[in-house]
Amino acid sequence: MKTHQVYFNHSGVQPFEELVKDSGISKAFVLCDQITAELCLPVLNELVDLREFTLILIPTGESYKTIETCNIVWAQLTKVNADRKALLINLGGGVLTDLGGFAASCYKRGIKFINIPTTLLAMVDASTGGKTGVDFGSFKNQIGVFSAPEFTWVHSIFLKSLPSNQIRSGAAEMIKHGLIYDSKHFDEVISNFNDLTSLISDSVSIKQAVVAQDPTEKGLRKILNFGHTLGHAIESFYLETPASLLHGEAIAVGMILEAYLSHRELGLSNNELVAITNPIKSFYDLPIIDPADYQDIIELTKQDKKNEHGSVRFVGLKQIGKAVYDVPLEAEGILEAFSYYKGIIL
Ligand code: GLY
Repeated sequence: MKTHQVYFNHSGVQPFEELVKDSGISKAFVLCDQITAELCLPVLNELVDLREFTLILIPTGESYKTIETCNIVWAQLTKVNADRKALLINLGGGVLTDLGGFAASCYKRGIKFINIPTTLLAMVDASTGGKTGVDFGSFKNQIGVFSAPEFTWVHSIFLKSLPSNQIRSGAAEMIKHGLIYDSKHFDEVISNFNDLTSLISDSVSIKQAVVAQDPTEKGLRKILNFGHTLGHAIESFYLETPASLLHGEAIAVGMILEAYLSHRELGLSNNELVAITNPIKSFYDLPIIDPADYQDIIELTKQDKKNEHGSVRFVGLKQIGKAVYDVPLEAEGILEAFSYYKGIIL
């Protein structure tokens, strides 16, 4: 997979205009969901001229991150005879950039796409690094391909319309970047969260540094999944219940559980465990998990994409800023981590 550039704020205007005017592009499409069409498309239209673009609209939300929604995109591209030189501009959060990247990568065996993330989560994580895909039943990102956008354009102007729970959801990935790779970034995110523009660019730099060393997740890139083995299982579990949990909230729980497991199994000190769990507790309204659900959540970890030869693995921390991957995850440890979690949130 090729590497790709990330532009911030106004520096994205010129590359955007150059690409869409390029003779290699036959027709440009903007993919939006109902929310980004209403709130973000007019903002993008102020930044760049969108008169020549065709809008493709999909429904909003994780429950629409499906192959059926890709069919909507492919049907619209086909209806107007979009050829292999078409360009898809994904304007939205992580669901939309993952799905749009996947739909673009499969249409006629691949057309170019650009990601313009409009949520903090998509800015610091989903829109960079070339992971694309859709969910399959309750299994997140089960179907997908690595495929890089032409570039990602992160503009903090889109955060103005973002609800505060979505900002907190995105913060989980920034906390994660600090915990796995750069303790200074962790300290800055938890102590100076208002200075978002520079924190976003630092967080994206960490992600790019990791992806550049291992674009298709043969090894090191797995560290970006800290908090996600249990976090994804919890998120998948909640998808099937009436209670809702944002991705970042599930990852926040996953990071607490996996920090505890790191303490239990990898020598993460008690002081560092507390230094991780306390700020996460104060950032998030963490859910109480019913012990009756532990076993179902443990079952869901078996679907994790990091598993090998039937053995469930997680990413652990030896210390803040130093992660290790492929650590075996046993049910006994998870149950102990759940009791630790229960003890700190009550
Ligand atoms: N979200 C983790 C990764 O991109 O590898």
